[in-house]
Amino acid sequence: MAVIEVALAGRPYRVVIEEGVLGRLSEAAAPFLAAYGGGRAVPFVADSNTHRLFAADVEAHLKSHGRKAEWFVVEPGEDAKTWGVLESLCDWLLALGVTRKDHVIALGGGVVGDLVGFACAIVKRGLGFVQLPTTLLAQVDSSVGGKTAINTRAGKNLIGAFHQPSLVLIDPLVLGSLPDREMRAGFAEVIKYGLLGDAAFFAWLEANANKVLAREPAALEHAIATSIAMKARIVAEDERETEDRRALLNLGHTFGHALEAETGFSARLLHGEAVALGMVLAARYSARRGEISASDAARAAGAIAAAGLPSQLSALGLTCDGAALVDHMRHDKKAEGTTLPFLLLRALGEAYVARDVALSDVAAFLDGELAA
Ligand code: GLY
Repeated sequence: MAVIEVALAGRPYRVVIEEGVLGRLSEAAAPFLAAYGGGRAVPFVADSNTHRLFAADVEAHLKSHGRKAEWFVVEPGEDAKTWGVLESLCDWLLALGVTRKDHVIALGGGVVGDLVGFACAIVKRGLGFVQLPTTLLAQVDSSVGGKTAINTRAGKNLIGAFHQPSLVLIDPLVLGSLPDREMRAGFAEVIKYGLLGDAAFFAWLEANANKVLAREPAALEHAIATSIAMKARIVAEDERETEDRRALLNLGHTFGHALEAETGFSARLLHGEAVALGMVLAARYSARRGEISASDAARAAGAIAAAGLPSQLSALGLTCDGAALVDHMRHDKKAEGTTLPFLLLRALGEAYVARDVALSDVAAFLDGELAA
């Protein structure tokens, strides 16, 4: 078991990593279980997969503690992060009679967490919520830090709010049912923490990737706890990404976003896979600028390939050129006028925000990578 505090001034909260905590929800989340309308019900939002996998156990557990669950179930996937679903969820919460003292429980991956967090940010000007993330990606990244959002025609995550959860409960056992591909995609975000800020953790991941991916309990808990400890530190330092601290968490995301956009944000390339390849490109581009050695860039790519993640742009089978990928980056919400901040590496374990990158040079670099 590990407990990590996100030390935000005046609103600290805990991230609890504990095997089986889902089955001990009443105790683990005791101060946050709703009492709206004087009742004993707890509002849960899940997707149809997490509902199918976990609802019966949750209900049995709550029943044995004199409570019952109310469910709002969405379809799995990004389509749940829409105005329409948000409206239905807000209406449902209002119909339940929730008050600002209540907490909603988000039981799912990043989509459910983002949707619930945003609904809770706006319903009655702010409900509480508890994150119960069920994918590795959500456990090590999106459930912590309070970024909440839905997607619109203009792009992903462009409508949202910073709204921190009151508690994050991470049960590594729920990853037992996660498909291997999604496990690997989440592992990309774990590698990210090593590459951006902890060389020793990166080396540990090189040696222990197989154990983490096989869900060996000690290795898995170490990987999750180390990742969250770093994220918690960074979020406490720069909650709203106004300094160049929280931006470090976007390592691999600018290149990755372009690849996701080019592949239509589809199952052809999962977010974590795009981040993995994006980190390889960030490392190789850093080497091109002489900031890390070619062998360090190869080491980063090797760790990503060893985890079964995409590590070679030319293998994706894209038909576009580098300029088209750069165009996708321009539409990224992190674009600042005509320039783009790029997350690059000074060393394996030391990322920084580069503001002097010429997009024409990135396009030329990507042309080379596409042809390699
Ligand atoms: N996923 C990046 C962040 O939370 O800032």
